[in-house]
Amino acid sequence: ILEAATRSAPIHPGFPNEPCRSRYNAAPQSNPCRDLQSMSKEQTNQSWGGRFSEAMDGFVEQFNASVGFDRRLYRQDIAGSIAHATMLAEAGVLSPEDRQAIVAGLEAIRDDIERGTFDWQTSLEDVHMNIEARLTARIGDAGKRLHTGRSRNDQVATDIRLYLREAIDAILETLGRLQAGLLSLAEREAETIMPGFTHLQVAQPVTFGHHVMAWFEMLDRDAGRLRDCRARLNVMPLGSAALAGTTFPIDRGITCRLLGFDRPSDNSLDAVSDRDFAIEFCAAGALIMTHLSRFSEELVLWASAQFDFVNLPDRFCTGSSIMPQKKNPDIPELVRGKTGRVNGNLVALLTLMKGQPLAYNKDNQEDKEPLFDTIDTVQACLRAYADMVPHIEVKAEKMRQAALQGYATATDLADYLVRKQVPFRDAHEIVGKAVKRGLDTGRDLSEMSIAELTEFSPAIEADVIDVLSLAGSVAARDQLGGTAPNQVKEAVRRARKRIGLG
Ligand code: ARG
Repeated sequence: ILEAATRSAPIHPGFPNEPCRSRYNAAPQSNPCRDLQSMSKEQTNQSWGGRFSEAMDGFVEQFNASVGFDRRLYRQDIAGSIAHATMLAEAGVLSPEDRQAIVAGLEAIRDDIERGTFDWQTSLEDVHMNIEARLTARIGDAGKRLHTGRSRNDQVATDIRLYLREAIDAILETLGRLQAGLLSLAEREAETIMPGFTHLQVAQPVTFGHHVMAWFEMLDRDAGRLRDCRARLNVMPLGSAALAGTTFPIDRGITCRLLGFDRPSDNSLDAVSDRDFAIEFCAAGALIMTHLSRFSEELVLWASAQFDFVNLPDRFCTGSSIMPQKKNPDIPELVRGKTGRVNGNLVALLTLMKGQPLAYNKDNQEDKEPLFDTIDTVQACLRAYADMVPHIEVKAEKMRQAALQGYATATDLADYLVRKQVPFRDAHEIVGKAVKRGLDTGRDLSEMSIAELTEFSPAIEADVIDVLSLAGSVAARDQLGGTAPNQVKEAVRRARKRIGLG
């Protein structure tokens, strides 16, 4: 069932027919119990067997293999190989017939993989060697010529960049959908008043639209970070070969154009060994999750009976198996929880990189699972939010009632006194005393008579009424970036333009 569900709703771009595989369930496809120790020398790995006198240890074969998780790079790997073969032919290193056989063979392999008929072999270690071995089995010697002038080191670095480039585009699309939903919500609720908090204590009234626009801004910076990351990663390692470049007269401009990179990398040692682009993406992902997590925390609080500010659609919630009355905000809770693993993925990659001497080291094979997991998790969480946000039901009256508690307009009263020439520090003291009276007698400032308020300062007159009202309070914060409904509507308009919607 899980297979079918993930198959019909792919959330990662690279491997649409394959369910998402976390590091915990990456299953090798071939029989893991093959007894490799009984292999003859001829049965040692075809890719490097020449130097070896015994087959790989059975457990080591499993331990060393990455095909269980890197096979999701198959599309990028094949695209890279087709570009490489095309370039080799143009450079006169490969015959046109060989090139043609390679391209046709790789395309047929891609079809097999997408049909699910490709037999992945753990003994062939990774996606690159699985595809190359199958190619050779299909087309003979031409297949063995494909690896001329390249190494798996520049191959895998190229594949990951291609994969991540697509993943970023897909994530940006979902992020944009969420942002558009937030803008509509903010516009709809531009006049809705709620208590604004600091320290989770009532601070000043704000409009709900303004609060929603804060979420929008966080996500907008996240989108910017993803675009920055994409620009920096779009540099092609292919042609760096193992670490030093190649002796063949390759033309990296051709492969670069064919694969849509902005330019070939400038240093072969750097290109095959650094994964800073993946780390940068994971950092951007961790920030997205951190933002979604804060957003989630608010929704969880607001959906509680104590706040009761919002109602989340039933289809995004779950019930309890024991308590019949329960409706739990699982989606925000899960998103908040998944932030932990995405943050962990960032730390995993930073730690993976920090001790590595130049150039490529096998450590780098460990880059993929944290990276893929971040891609999948961020995409899934953004999708859940993009789907849910337009349907959040706002309980405006509950929000308003809450804003009437906690003396949210106390600062307005102090500002009022300042406008009547009372120095701010004195005004602060005067209002503090009025609040104390309110607390002692169980009343809000707006529930005290003018005569009573005048006792605290003769500067308080009948016109204070507007100042103490919630609508007056928010409307008065009518500066750029402020909470007044006018400003919220303007902010929505500017934001729409910024993200290309208006
Ligand atoms: N599976 C390897 C990885 O993910 C591919 C590169 C292997 N290169 C090597 N020199 N062993 O990094």
